[in-house]
Amino acid sequence: MVFLELAKARYSCKKYLDKPVERDKLENILEAGRLAPTAKNNQPQHIYVLESKESLALADQITPCRYGAPTVLAIAHDKNNVFEYPGGAYNSGAEDAAIVATHIVLAAKAIGLDTCWLNFFDPDKAKELLQLPDNEALTILLDVGYADAAAKPLPNHENRKPLSETVTYR
Ligand SMILES: Cc1cc2nc3c(=O)[nH]c(=O)nc-3n(C[C@H](O)[C@H](O)[C@H](O)COP(=O)(O)O)c2cc1C
Repeated sequence: MVFLELAKARYSCKKYLDKPVERDKLENILEAGRLAPTAKNNQPQHIYVLESKESLALADQITPCRYGAPTVLAIAHDKNNVFEYPGGAYNSGAEDAAIVATHIVLAAKAIGLDTCWLNFFDPDKAKELLQLPDNEALTILLDVGYADAAAKPLPNHENRKPLSETVTYR
């Protein structure tokens, strides 16, 4: 698929089939995440694949937005392995997790899987429920699965601002 077609085809899927994601497909999209760039190539990401009945029940405690997905990826990062911006007020952790997640979301679409990026959860509560180590922060959950036949993009999927509103040439 040409990249812009792929980018247009991706949408936030909110209804999944009760069909597991095959291991080879999961590994394919995780590989896409592995290839993502990160600040200073620190690769602070740690991806938890939630797919067991118990883990999915935990996911449902963390967020109301699983939408029946058979797999949820919890994308954490090692807070001790991030790039600190000059000035010390910001670091790359959430950005690193986000570009890994972006690779995964688009790779998933390319092989017939759908996804929904989630931040409707309390990161501290999620961290506790998933028993993540102290050094890790969790900023992204990704639903992954096969779209139900009834799934379709929300109307706002087509609603993107024109470049004239979001880009300034100087
Ligand atoms: C950072 C981020 C957080 C999001 N969090 C949620 C969420 O918690 N629950 C949800 O249902 N959708 C969530 N979404 C999906 C957005 O609502 C969706 O991408 C947006 O409305 C545009 O729709 P589209 O993805 O179908 O084009 C999130 C998307 C992003 C990028």
